Amino acid sequence: MRVGFFDSGLGGLSVLREVLSQAPQLELDYYADQARIPWGPRPADELRQYCQRITERLQQRGCSHIVVACNTASAVALQYLRAQFPSLRFVGMEPAVKPAAALTRSGVVGLLATSATLAGELLANTKARHAAHVQIVSDPCLGLVDAIEAGDGVAVRRCLQRILPPMLQAGADVLVLGCTHYPFARDLLEELTGPEVRIVDPAPAVAAQLLRLHAPPPTSAPAAPQFFTSGDPRRFEAQVRHLLGRDCQATQVDWAG
Ligand code: DGL
Repeated sequence: MRVGFFDSGLGGLSVLREVLSQAPQLELDYYADQARIPWGPRPADELRQYCQRITERLQQRGCSHIVVACNTASAVALQYLRAQFPSLRFVGMEPAVKPAAALTRSGVVGLLATSATLAGELLANTKARHAAHVQIVSDPCLGLVDAIEAGDGVAVRRCLQRILPPMLQAGADVLVLGCTHYPFARDLLEELTGPEVRIVDPAPAVAAQLLRLHAPPPTSAPAAPQFFTSGDPRRFEAQVRHLLGRDCQATQVDWAG
C-alpha cells in the first residue's frame, strides 16, 4: 500500500523529507499542483475541488493513506476529504501553536501562515484549546511561497524582513512555521531572528503520526518515491535536487486534464 502526499508545490517536500528520514522504505507518491500555485489566496470551495481531484488520482494509484502536506489544504479541505473518501486514511497539517504555547517564555508566539490557514476553523479551534493564554502575532506572508518556489533567496529575505519585525517587536520568542514551504527558509529565518528565538516546524510530528497509522514493513531496500507535478517536470526535478539533494524523475500530470 502506498502513501500519497500532495501540496500546491514544493512545500510538502519538507514533510516528505521527514517521513523518508524515519522510514526510507515507504512506498510513496508526491503530487505538486504547481500549475495553480499559490493556493493560499484561492477560495475554499475551489481548493476543496482541487484536493478532491488530486486525492482521486492518488487513490487510483493505490494509495491507502494520504498526507495533506499543505496547511492551507488541511485548513479548508481535510474534513471534506475524510467525508468524501471514507476508505482512505488522512494525515493533515495543523499549525503548531500547541507546542509553541508550551515553549514560549515571553507569552508571545509568531505565526507565519497563508491567509486561508489564518482564517480557518482549524487554527481557531487549536488556539482556543491549546493557546488561549498566549498572544499570537500572525502574518499571511504574502509572496513568501512564490519566492521559495522560485528559489529566489533575495525575495525570501525581503519577505522575511517585512514579516518578522512586528513579531519580534511584540516580544515573540517562538515562531511557528504554519505553511509547509517555510521550513525551506529556515536558515534565513534563524539568521534574521538570532538564537534566542525558537522555531517550530510540525513536520516531524506529522511524519511520526503517519508512521503510527502506517508502519511500513522493515525491509532493507529504500523505495524510490514517485513524483508528479502539474507544472514543468524538468524544473521540478531540479528543485527536488536542490532542496532534498536527491535525483528523481518527475512526470507531468494535471488533475484537470
Ligand atoms: N505549502 C502550502 C501550505 O502549507 C502553501 C500554500 C500556497 O500554495 O499558498 O499552506
